[in-house]
Amino acid sequence: MSTIRVYVDNPIATINKNIYGHFAEHLGSCIYEGIWVGEDSAIPNTNGIRNDVVEALKAIAPPVIRWPGGCFADDYHWQDGIGPRESRPSRVNIWWGEDVESNHFGTHEFIELCRLVGADPYIVGNVGSGTPHELRNWVEYCNVPGNTTLSEQRAKNGSPEPFGVEYWGVGNENWGCGGRMDPQDYAIEYKRFSTYMRDFGGSSLFLIACGPLQGEPVWTREFFEKLGDFPKIHGFGAHYYARVRDPEGTPIPETFTGTATDYNNDQWYYQLHLGLEMENLVLQQRAIMDGYDPERKVGLIFDEWGTWHPPAEGHHPRHLWQQNTMRDALVAATTLDIFNRHADKVIMSNIAQTINVLQAMILTNGDKILKTPTYHVYDMYKVHQDATSVATRFESDDIQFGMKNEDYSVPALTGSASIKGDVLTLNVVNLHADTPIEANIDIKGIAIKEASLQVLASDGIHGHNTFDHPDQVLPQTSTVAVDDKNWTMTFEPASVSVLKIQL
Ligand code: AHR
Repeated sequence: MSTIRVYVDNPIATINKNIYGHFAEHLGSCIYEGIWVGEDSAIPNTNGIRNDVVEALKAIAPPVIRWPGGCFADDYHWQDGIGPRESRPSRVNIWWGEDVESNHFGTHEFIELCRLVGADPYIVGNVGSGTPHELRNWVEYCNVPGNTTLSEQRAKNGSPEPFGVEYWGVGNENWGCGGRMDPQDYAIEYKRFSTYMRDFGGSSLFLIACGPLQGEPVWTREFFEKLGDFPKIHGFGAHYYARVRDPEGTPIPETFTGTATDYNNDQWYYQLHLGLEMENLVLQQRAIMDGYDPERKVGLIFDEWGTWHPPAEGHHPRHLWQQNTMRDALVAATTLDIFNRHADKVIMSNIAQTINVLQAMILTNGDKILKTPTYHVYDMYKVHQDATSVATRFESDDIQFGMKNEDYSVPALTGSASIKGDVLTLNVVNLHADTPIEANIDIKGIAIKEASLQVLASDGIHGHNTFDHPDQVLPQTSTVAVDDKNWTMTFEPASVSVLKIQL
């Protein structure tokens, strides 16, 4: 029998609500179509932003949204996206399919989106092709209350009140699309750019430096080495995509993980195994950072992460559109559980990306929208925002599987727990493709009478929602009566369960 132990008297740390953050880039149909349809659209909207998407996002309580990229950020000039829309310039989106960027969605529209859904804005500045002057001006435009040319321009453009943007990224992937720098060059650029970014108007900027991809340790070590004791840094944003690349760096997901919707059991497990790698990256990155920053003044952030499947038929390969199944839901759940368990190490994460791109919350098609299984995990897990993470122990037999003549294993059960007020929330993920697991749940000495239960599962491992059947995968809610201290429950195969227990 498997066992789940929850150590309610062993707190880890407060789970920063920003761990449940999002990321929206000018890429494919994430911004245009997915969020922005324009005021004249037949699709109901508020100041050009889709109402259905706003309602859906609001329901999962997004704490923070990162924008405008991604690779797009280091080729974006913010002045292109302000003022009357009809006079904004059109540009080529050089990273994503050479689409025409109308600049109709700019700073004001992004702030409006954040206000509508209740999220804090996180803006990524252009270091790769911009200047420190351009970025400090963006900060001034957003945050100075008045009496300067830029703040008066903001007022003229409809926002007399400052935006009060606190989270700023100083570039994105500057080892790659953000300028192909080495860590020493980037540390020098980081200091130069951030020197001119000021706490205007009583704001308190939270500056985020570019971290590595897939846990590259050299980038982290050499960046902090070169940075020295430079104090203007608050976060370090690493990226991790759960996909396989060959030694030259070319993605070769098909053979290991199949496509977004077509995979066998071994490919199911291999994808989950890739997701679980996040735990090693958290430990590795924080350990390197601790060497330079033992008091943890600089927070570890994963500001891009998620699944990245092969291009879907009928979609431009550079638009990164993909379906989202129970497999993605389990990657989301197990990753968020890792962040909950390491609430003392991770302070923010931004899953890539919110709508119509990579591991999306929402897919849109004309005036239709669907909520993906990943969305439902965020809905079920939102209760952990600002709760206190407590220690857990999941004891179950590992699942053995093979891939390319190598043996692998993943744990059968994982999860995390937190306490808010007098409610304990326990997440349990059963990674088995086809086997239910019975587990004894031991809440360290506390006799439980009742728990509420939400389960996300499907008929088999390929379950997903479509525009014709948008509610095939939905969480089911019930109440579980518990007779005595020896509490056992059976967890469905390929499922995510959330138990809420009154203490
Ligand atoms: O999320 C898609 C892309 O992945 C981002 O633009 C980039 O930062 C990363 O390589």
